[in-house]
Amino acid sequence: MSRKYYIKTYGCQMNDLDGQQMGRLLKSQGYESTPIPDEADVILVNTCSIREKASAKVYSDVGRFRALKLRRPEVVLGVTGCQAQAEGLHLQKRFPYLDLVIGPDHTNQVPDLVEAIYQKSKKSASEVHFEKPDDYRFLNLLPDESEDSIKAYLTIMKGCDNFCSFCVVPYVRGREVCRDPEEIINEAIQLGEMGVREVTLLGQNVNSYGVGRHSEEARLKKHRSPFISFAKLLRRVADESKIGRIRFTTSHPKDMPDELIEEFGENAKLARHFHLPVQSGSDQVLQSMYRGYTRNDFLKSIRRLRRIDPSIALSTDIIVGFPTETEKDFQCTLDLLDEVRFDSIYSFAYSPRPKTTAALYFKDEVSEAEKSDRLRRLQDKQNQITYEIHQCRVGSMLEVLVEGPSKSGTTFCGRSSQNHMVHFEGCENDRGKFLPLKIFHAGPNSLRGTIDEC
Ligand code: 5AD
Ligand code: SF4
Repeated sequence: MSRKYYIKTYGCQMNDLDGQQMGRLLKSQGYESTPIPDEADVILVNTCSIREKASAKVYSDVGRFRALKLRRPEVVLGVTGCQAQAEGLHLQKRFPYLDLVIGPDHTNQVPDLVEAIYQKSKKSASEVHFEKPDDYRFLNLLPDESEDSIKAYLTIMKGCDNFCSFCVVPYVRGREVCRDPEEIINEAIQLGEMGVREVTLLGQNVNSYGVGRHSEEARLKKHRSPFISFAKLLRRVADESKIGRIRFTTSHPKDMPDELIEEFGENAKLARHFHLPVQSGSDQVLQSMYRGYTRNDFLKSIRRLRRIDPSIALSTDIIVGFPTETEKDFQCTLDLLDEVRFDSIYSFAYSPRPKTTAALYFKDEVSEAEKSDRLRRLQDKQNQITYEIHQCRVGSMLEVLVEGPSKSGTTFCGRSSQNHMVHFEGCENDRGKFLPLKIFHAGPNSLRGTIDEC
């Protein structure tokens, strides 16, 4: 009987993909996946540390698996991902029954380390050092038959060199390293051949692809293919693969070259959706966050995008209660929602993160009650805007990539190019198709459409 693994992933798409990759690696060693921890021989908690709440989850999860470990000591229990990187040996001290602590640079070592624990050649193991950027190798692992064959992630870079004052990412994911463009195109071609219809190109700062320090170093050393700009990479993925729709995340507002914006006018495979995290509408706060752009710069980029294609849906990330944020600053963020009218936002209350400039040097002076209140006001305003935008879609046609039955099981669903969730009366045969749907109903979170007969 084959051994089984259970992986619980928290956090962003990059972590999701790391979790998928660990599963693929374990499967290649004969393991099977199980959704039930009690049935598993290997349990991995793939953690996130972006905010305090996310990192607190690792403690409750690992604590929860203690009883299981006492009952079945042979189970291999590991923590992977950003929190593993952030805490390293401290985690093993706090949870002595933990077998493995593996940072994001060492995903490829998961099967060997698991095996070493199994064979008792190691009592426990921890791998949390960063690879030198030039030595870092991206994993070339394609999805297998058991995975979603309609949509896939494709890594184009890792790490971040921006050091925004609130953000832990550079400390847990390391320096920015760009993947060889030929490797990316090859993977896109193979995904297209496998029938994948939509890819999301992933990186912490995808619109700086090919221009970062390590891209340049690698190019000068000539041991990799010459780097190309992000816009050219998008064009090549579109032209050379059978992928039908391309998304990307995350972009930084300080890196918005004309070439990228103009690509939306020329590349029909680009999803009409741009996620551009603004973080705050106040120049004073943006400056303290070390974001490298002003509110006006951000608005200019939005205008340039909308001039190229007014149908592009916009989403953003916003932090409320950053240490220097006054009520007046917060009002600037509220005003920005009215001015831009984002289709959706992801909003967060600031929490100090280890090693970051804000945590070390800025006093967390906005009370938790005030942060919650600002978050509620922000979300109330945005919910209203999102609902109004949804209502404007009624009567329009949207091209939807059908993903399968909805959670309730009563309808089928998929996402429009603009990233709306759309429900409709479909059938199994529609799965994986791009269908033009006529929208007849708008809800606060999703739309309903029907297949247009004529
Ligand atoms: N506190 C709150 N939100 C944060 N984010 C990043 N760091 C913090 C923090 N310390 C948010 C940002 C980022 C998103 C992924 O998480 O908005 O864009
Ligand atoms: Fe964090 Fe800023 Fe890098 Fe984004 S760009 S990952 S917010 S440091």
